[in-house]
Amino acid sequence: MIQFPKGFLWGAATSAYQVEGNNIASDWWEWEKRLGQKEPSGLACRHYELYAQDFDLARSLGHNAHRLSLEWSRIEPEEGRFQEAQLKHYLDVILALRERGIEPVVTLHHFTNPLWFSLKDGWHNEQAVSSYLRYTGRALELLSPHVRFWVTINEPMVYVYHAYVLGIWPPQERSLAKGGKVTNNLLSAHVEAYKLIHAIYKKKGLPMPMVSIAQNLQAFVACKANLRNRIALYLRNKCFNFDFIDNAMRKKSLDFLGINYYSRSLVDTRGWGVKNLLLDTCRDNHSDLPKNSLGWDIYPQGLYDLLLSLKRYDLPVFILENGICTDKDSLRWNFIRRHIEMVHQARQKGVNLIGYLYWSLLDNFEWDKGFSPRFGLIDVDYATYRRTPRDSANKFAEVCRTGTLND
Ligand code: FCB
Repeated sequence: MIQFPKGFLWGAATSAYQVEGNNIASDWWEWEKRLGQKEPSGLACRHYELYAQDFDLARSLGHNAHRLSLEWSRIEPEEGRFQEAQLKHYLDVILALRERGIEPVVTLHHFTNPLWFSLKDGWHNEQAVSSYLRYTGRALELLSPHVRFWVTINEPMVYVYHAYVLGIWPPQERSLAKGGKVTNNLLSAHVEAYKLIHAIYKKKGLPMPMVSIAQNLQAFVACKANLRNRIALYLRNKCFNFDFIDNAMRKKSLDFLGINYYSRSLVDTRGWGVKNLLLDTCRDNHSDLPKNSLGWDIYPQGLYDLLLSLKRYDLPVFILENGICTDKDSLRWNFIRRHIEMVHQARQKGVNLIGYLYWSLLDNFEWDKGFSPRFGLIDVDYATYRRTPRDSANKFAEVCRTGTLND
């Protein structure tokens, strides 16, 4: 039996665009239309209207924490024109969590931007930072008394990689130079938002908040331990996993480390170019690990190794996303169990872990992949919007309620 301390945060995560539906002023909405995406987000899970019902379920599943994001494009659909009614909606959402005894963890930016912001060159534009700060200031004025945990930016490097390097997500750029500039702007946005959030709490005389990013960590593993692959591992860990954290640490802008973990990437380089070193992955299909329905390797050991490497930062660590998409729910429970075991082992080795959130509470809109990947603890029937907690949700609920994981 594995035992976690009282007060450990247990729950699940969502993001606004993936669950709410009808986010018509967002750049993703426009991108889906322009590309004729086969499964556009549409009404998503209708969480915008059904959030109270969803939080009833979260409570009944023993969750004491829940991560959500604010949709900037609802709050500021036109540049400088803030919608008080939408801010009020998020206040209601956050209060609905509080009423149920669930700690809200609120993300300010989770991949999507207002369309007007994207049309002005998005995060590549110098002014992006001040636009983001103005929105952050407005949101915080209203919401700060009710929120302790803030996440400024979700997975900055995943965003840069998909939107500016691979060119799959909007704005579909393929430029390492642009990606570099966007990374710097995201870092400034985070650092300045950190200062702003703290200043607002101070001004209002509120107890100090806990502010971080949600950094995706990938386990990079080389197929062959040759020199070039070893250099590639070093560079990838630096660029994709740790640089952003290191820079934020240097600016003293992290109160805890928010971490997302899913999978490993098998590294095998085919040349000495920068792109080879940073991007080449193994082409042979020799991984014998079980996979999720998107083909990602299931590799709990990677979470343990990465958690131990975070000890050097000497900060509380909060797992803000960890999950599996699968049509076979028994795999989901197995995935959760094995990852919680790793969390426990890392705690025993002295990593100061304070919480674990599963991705996701509900099945939802998985970006360019549409609705078929099923990540939810709760099944969503997209014809009726009926929610049905899965068996894995009930098993995880036992852990949430008791803080123990039985063999
Ligand atoms: C993460 C994202 C989240 C979701 C999961 C599967 O990278 O933060 O929105 O798409 O992957």
